[in-house]
Amino acid sequence: MTLIRSEMVGFGHCLPTKVVTNDDLAKIVETSDEWIRTRTGIVSRHISDGETTGDLSFNAAQMALKTAGMTAEDLDMIIVATVTPDNTSPSVAAKISGRLGTKSGTICTDISAACSGFIYALTMADNMIRLGQIKTALVIGAETLSKIVDWTDRNTCVLFGDGAGAVVIRAKEGQGTSADTGILATKLYADGSHYESLVVLGGVSTTQTSGFVTMDGKEVFKYAVNALSQAAENVMEIAGVTKDDVDWILPHQANIRIIEGVGKKLDLPEEKVIVSVDHHGNTSAASIPLALSENYAAGRLKKGDLVVLTAMGAGFTWGGALVRI
Ligand code: ACO
Repeated sequence: MTLIRSEMVGFGHCLPTKVVTNDDLAKIVETSDEWIRTRTGIVSRHISDGETTGDLSFNAAQMALKTAGMTAEDLDMIIVATVTPDNTSPSVAAKISGRLGTKSGTICTDISAACSGFIYALTMADNMIRLGQIKTALVIGAETLSKIVDWTDRNTCVLFGDGAGAVVIRAKEGQGTSADTGILATKLYADGSHYESLVVLGGVSTTQTSGFVTMDGKEVFKYAVNALSQAAENVMEIAGVTKDDVDWILPHQANIRIIEGVGKKLDLPEEKVIVSVDHHGNTSAASIPLALSENYAAGRLKKGDLVVLTAMGAGFTWGGALVRI
C-alpha cells in the first residue's frame, strides 16, 4: 500500500561565533570546569554576540535549502520552534519568510513547546504533508536562551547555549513499511501539572516583561529519563521496529547524565547515542536539528540511517519521532 511520507531532504545549522568555556563562566559565577563537566557533560557553548534567533534561523534555513537543492520558492510552510522569538509578534517564521523571499501564500507560524518544540513542529508539518495540504516544509528549532538566563545564577546559567538547526521535509510516496525513507512515526505528550517545575518567569500578559529561566533541576532530571525513553519506545513500536533496527538515537541535549540514562534504559550501545551537549550546551528547541545537521554535514549520519529523535522540556512536554534519513 502506497502512502505519503515526509522525507528529510535538507539539513542546516548556525551557531553564534562567540564560544564561552566553563572556565569563562567560572570568572562570573562561583563554579568550576570540574563541577560543570561532571554534573552536565558540558565543556563549552556558543553565546549570541548580537545575533538574534531570527538571524540564526535564517542562516540555518539557507543551509538547509542549499543541501536540499531547493529555493525559498519551493516552500509551502515555515514553522519555527522557539521560546526566544525576535518579537512577541509576528512570528520568527514570518521574518524568515520575508528574508528568504518565499512565494506569497507560504504558511508561517512559530510554536512554543520549549525543548520539545522541534519534535512538535516536525510532527505538525509531517501531518500537513501526509494530509496533502502542503508538499514542502522548512522546520526550524532556534534559540537565544542566553537572553533569558540570569547570568548571576550558577544553577542555570552554566546549562544553556544558543543556536539554530533546520530541516527541509518534502512529500514522497512510500510503501508504508519501515524500509521507507522519511518520517515513519511521531508521538507527542504533555502534562501541564508540572507547569511550575521549569518556567521562564514573566510574560506579556502578566508582567509585560520577559524574565529568567527557573527550574527544579532534580525534578526535571528525574522526569526526563523516563519521558525521553517512553517517547523513543513508543515511536519504535508504532513503526514496528526494534532497538536493534535503529542506527542512532538522538535525545534532546540537556545533560550527559540524562542522555546516558536514556541509552541505558533503552539498552542501546553508547556508539549509537548522538551527543553534542559537550560543545552546544542545552539549546532547547534547537538541540535536535542542530545535532542532526552537524552530524549529517560531518558524514556521520547517512542516507538510509534509522534515527530515533526524542525530546522533553517545559510544560512538561515531550515527544519522539522515528526517521529514516
Ligand atoms: N557550580 C557549582 N555548584 C553548583 C552549580 C554550579 N554551576 N550549580 C549548582 N551548584 C550547587 C548547588 O548550589 C547545590 O549546592 P548545595 O548542595 O550547597 O545547595 C549543589 O551544587 C547541587 O548539587 P547536586 O545535587 O549534585 O546537583 P545535581 O546533580 O542535581 O545537578 C543539575 C544539578 C545539573 C541542574 C541537574 O539537576 C540537572 O541537569 N537537571 C536537569 C535540568 C535541566 O536540564 N534543565 C534544562 C531544561 S529541561 C530539559 O532540557 C530537559
